[in-house]
Amino acid sequence: MRVAIAGLGRMGRAFAAKLAADGVPLQVWNRTAGRAGALPEVATPAVLAADADIILTSLTDDAAVEAVYAGPDGLLSGPIAGRLFVEMSTIRPETVRAIAARVEALGARLIDAPVAGGPAVVAACQSLAFVGGASEDIDRARPVLERFCRKIAPMGPVGSGTVMKLVANLPIGVYFQALAEGLALGRSHGLDLAAMLAVMVDSPGALAALPRKVPAILGEAGDVPFDIAGVRKDLLAMTAACHRAGVPAPAATGALSAYAGATAAGWGTRDFSTIIRFWAEAVAGLPRD
Ligand SMILES: NC(=O)c1ccc[n+]([C@@H]2O[C@H](COP(=O)([O-])OP(=O)(O)OC[C@H]3O[C@@H](n4cnc5c(N)ncnc54)[C@H](OP(=O)(O)O)[C@@H]3O)[C@@H](O)[C@H]2O)c1
Repeated sequence: MRVAIAGLGRMGRAFAAKLAADGVPLQVWNRTAGRAGALPEVATPAVLAADADIILTSLTDDAAVEAVYAGPDGLLSGPIAGRLFVEMSTIRPETVRAIAARVEALGARLIDAPVAGGPAVVAACQSLAFVGGASEDIDRARPVLERFCRKIAPMGPVGSGTVMKLVANLPIGVYFQALAEGLALGRSHGLDLAAMLAVMVDSPGALAALPRKVPAILGEAGDVPFDIAGVRKDLLAMTAACHRAGVPAPAATGALSAYAGATAAGWGTRDFSTIIRFWAEAVAGLPRD
């Protein structure tokens, strides 16, 4: 089984490192060359698809996925019969369904398998994959996905893994904006940010992800597994999907305006949990603590 990865961002590099450490034969491609380390890197997505049985894609957004699949020298530009594509980006369901139709027309298969959990979760083999596609295609991908996933959750036909990813992440984006508002309220009444967070992580109002975000919220430098611009991108996909389905989404829409405002104000590359600092300092006008 020859495996390939297109996209060596934070997630693609984590998948590649885990598979390589397990001795899985691997080729990689990235738009910006030179990020492959010791892994064999090919010049174009077309070459990647020509040489592999299973091709994972992990890319920023819908435009990136469309470019890598359907662009010049893209994954779909050569003969690909028999290949299995595993689309792992967080994108819009209609995008993944449209690409799956093109893949199938060329005699290949595609499943969508976005994961919950960032690079450290991948490295610890604790990812949760939300998977859409035919069960035989999912079974074919299992030996690869199981290298970094604690659970593979089939949700239905192609696109349904992506829908589930939007379902799972919507409350996280809303939660951190709601927390931003609550903590700004507390600070406006003179409460200390660190003291409030120490209570919050021990309260029923804590999200499981909150404790590991406390250092970033308190302003400590560190890795940025996922940033404010990424949550804005996800909330755009979520609110668009809600709109298409006729599902009102005032909480997600409100959170989107906050993350979009933070991105426009230059906070886009900061850890997404720092929406809390953005809200306090740039919106509520509170002094930096
Ligand atoms: N980070 C997380 O914690 C996390 C967790 C779960 C899911 N996700 C999702 O996984 C996906 C990847 O996330 P990430 O954190 O790895 O992102 P990232 O670090 O920003 O990497 C993005 C990747 O996409 C490539 N790319 C962007 N635009 C492109 C284009 N037009 N054509 C070709 N390649 C393009 C980048 O190539 P260059 O190197 O050339 O820029 C890079 O390889 C996203 O959809 C994200 O929402 C992320």
